[in-house]
Amino acid sequence: MNGMHVGIIMDGNGRWARGQGKPRWRGHLAGVDSLRDVVRGAPDLGVTTLTVYAFSADNWKRPPTEVGRLFWLLREYCLRERAELLENGVRVTHIGRRDRIPRSALRQLEETEHATARGRRLHLRLAIDYSARWAIAEATHALARKVKRGQLDPNAITPDLLHRRICGNVPEPDFIIRTAGEQRLSDFLLWELAYAELYFTPLLWPDFRRGDLAVALSEYRQRERRFGAVPAERAAKPEAAAS
Ligand code: IPE
Ligand code: IPE
Ligand code: MG
Repeated sequence: MNGMHVGIIMDGNGRWARGQGKPRWRGHLAGVDSLRDVVRGAPDLGVTTLTVYAFSADNWKRPPTEVGRLFWLLREYCLRERAELLENGVRVTHIGRRDRIPRSALRQLEETEHATARGRRLHLRLAIDYSARWAIAEATHALARKVKRGQLDPNAITPDLLHRRICGNVPEPDFIIRTAGEQRLSDFLLWELAYAELYFTPLLWPDFRRGDLAVALSEYRQRERRFGAVPAERAAKPEAAAS
C-alpha cells in the first residue's frame, strides 16, 4: 500500500447548524454523513491512510450535553457503520487517550477496531480525545522509562527514534485538509506534519463530500514538495553564469 496519507480536521459543524437554525448537535449528526461519504470515496482517489480529527483533548471544555452527544454519535457510528467498513476493507484504529472515553462508546470503538483489523484497502484512524502534544509527551515518557531501567542510552534518543515511538509504522501525512476556514492546527499531528502540505477550505464539514476531496487532491498534485532540497530539474542543470 503506497497511497497517500490524508488528514482531515473536520471543522464547522456548529456553524453549519446555526446556519440552518438548528442546535449544534444537528451539525455533528450531519457531519457523520460527510465522513461516511469521504471514507467511501477515499480509496478510489489514491488515499490509503485517512486520519480524521473527531474530538480533541480540548473539546472537553464544551458543555457536557454537547460532549455527551458527540460520544453517543461515536458509539452509533461504530455500531451502524461497522458492517460496511468491514465489507469495504477499511481498517479502523483509534489514536488519542482511551481512559476518558465513556465506556459504552469505547466498547463499540474497540469492537470496531477488532472486527476491521484485517482491512487492507483503507486505514481509517479516528483521533478522539487526541492531543499531539500529549502524544509527544507519552512517547517521551516511554523513552525516559527505558533510560531509567538502563535499557536506553540518552544519546540514542534521536529524532528517528522519537519518530518511531510517535508514529509506529504509519506513514507521515502527505496532505492535511481543514474545513470551515480556520487556518490553524489545533494540536493535530504536530510531529507528523513537519512536511505535510496544508489545505484550507471555507466549506463547512457537513457540506464536504468526496468530490470536494477530489478537488483538494487535484490541488495537492500541483504542489512541489521539496523536503528542503533543490528541485530535481534545477539540481541537474548547472546554474546560469552570473556574468
Ligand atoms: C467540529 O465542528 C466538530 C468538533 C470539534 C467535535 P465544531 O463543533 O468545532 O463546529 P464550529 O467550529 O463550532 O462551527
Ligand atoms: C478542532 O476543532 C478539533 C476537531 C475538529 C475535532 P475545534 O473547533 O475544536 O478547534 P478550535 O477551537 O477552533 O481551534
Ligand atoms: Mg470548530
